[in-house]
Amino acid sequence: MTPSAPRRRGRPGYAARSRRALERGPSLVGTELELDVGSVAHGGFCVARHDGRVVFVRHSLPGERVRAVVTEGGEGDRFLRADAVEVTRPSPDRVPSRCPHAGPGGCGGCDWQHVDLAAQRALKASVVAEQLRRLAGLDREVVVEAAPGESDGLGWRTRVEFAVDPRGHAGLRRARSHEVVALEHCPIARPEVLATGVLERDWSGRRAVQVAVSSTGGRAVLPQPGVDEQAETLVERVTTPTWSGLFAVAGAGFWQVHPGAPAALVGAVLQALEPRSGDRVLDLYAGVGLFALPLADAVGASGAVVAVESDPVAADLARDNAGDRPWVTVRDGRVEDVLPTLPSADLVVLDPPRTGAGRVIVEQLCARRPRTIAYVACDPAALARDLGYAAQAGYSLAELTAYDLFPMTHHVECVAVLRPHSLDEAPEAPENHAGADG
Ligand SMILES: C[S@@+](CC[C@H](N)C(=O)[O-])C[C@H]1O[C@@H](n2cnc3c(N)ncnc32)[C@H](O)[C@@H]1O
Repeated sequence: MTPSAPRRRGRPGYAARSRRALERGPSLVGTELELDVGSVAHGGFCVARHDGRVVFVRHSLPGERVRAVVTEGGEGDRFLRADAVEVTRPSPDRVPSRCPHAGPGGCGGCDWQHVDLAAQRALKASVVAEQLRRLAGLDREVVVEAAPGESDGLGWRTRVEFAVDPRGHAGLRRARSHEVVALEHCPIARPEVLATGVLERDWSGRRAVQVAVSSTGGRAVLPQPGVDEQAETLVERVTTPTWSGLFAVAGAGFWQVHPGAPAALVGAVLQALEPRSGDRVLDLYAGVGLFALPLADAVGASGAVVAVESDPVAADLARDNAGDRPWVTVRDGRVEDVLPTLPSADLVVLDPPRTGAGRVIVEQLCARRPRTIAYVACDPAALARDLGYAAQAGYSLAELTAYDLFPMTHHVECVAVLRPHSLDEAPEAPENHAGADG
């Protein structure tokens, strides 16, 4: 179960906020609750019940009994949020936290520092399976695989945007807060990120500092993300059993943050799409061309790859990265604007941001009748919603692979493979599917 607020445009006005405060009644923040913790939910917490209310409990695990302190919610709310502050019946999956800053009231960067790594993957698998069931009406057993080269879930994050506290120290934000927790250490960051001295330096006068380190030894320390992001370009090398290539990437632009992620995802997409010589391919939300390049090499000069990317810096780099492959075209712009102008395709890969592609884009893609669609997704709820739309547009989920590309956090990456079904196989829309967009 995921807490959801009604969708609003902009900030609610004074009257709406006052009404909401009245509806909530007296605050319950700080109240202690004894809770028996139930199943895991999407977002890095578990679900418990208390006095007829649902309580979303961070720092807990299914099956535990905990003493929890309410962090959000009032008497009039149907659900509360709480932090487990004492565990009176621990789960066998609980381990000592490896981060001095994780835990109740601490850094919000990680959700599962207190959980054994294999158990974290099992929790993520159950979240993905639940989203598929609830939003797409699909009953699937899901396995979450470790990223290539992963051992203990630490020291993996190659790109980190730190916030800066009022004293000039770099840190990360508390869960569901703008407050910055100054960090002495970040055990999930790549050692090379910490070796830049980012946590020791005085960043007074800055609001954020972004650090990126590349697989070829480059590093970028960007004290004004969004301003000097074009100043530093890093080179990334991606090697899979069947393909190898180099990519220029902006220091502050998008690149997969786990060092094992690019190879895992390229391998999964190539395996899913089975590109043939001469195929026409669309790569939507293409970044600097992570999927466009290996697909271009697979389809060869008799084929065509069109990559669509809205960030002009990334689109330019994708063009440079394509180099001497004139059968790759990079279109700057938003997929929603560019897709209607594109011809049909044999294969499609799409890797949208967390919000997913949405109904219109999914329908337009399916209407082009590609042989296979590979949907790379960092939010299982948005993926499941879009799989529901695809099913209605004639495409079924053929396979799903999930990867633990963000250990210690609740995030999980999925690669869903969609193929056309005949109309008499069209699945029924799940009951609660309508209105799940957003
Ligand atoms: C999750 S990243 C994937 C990038 C690339 N596939 C990779 O793995 O390196 C999503 C990309 O989509 C781009 N993007 C976001 N919204 C977009 C839109 N509406 N249309 C086109 N590109 C968009 C972002 O700039 C980002 O590069």
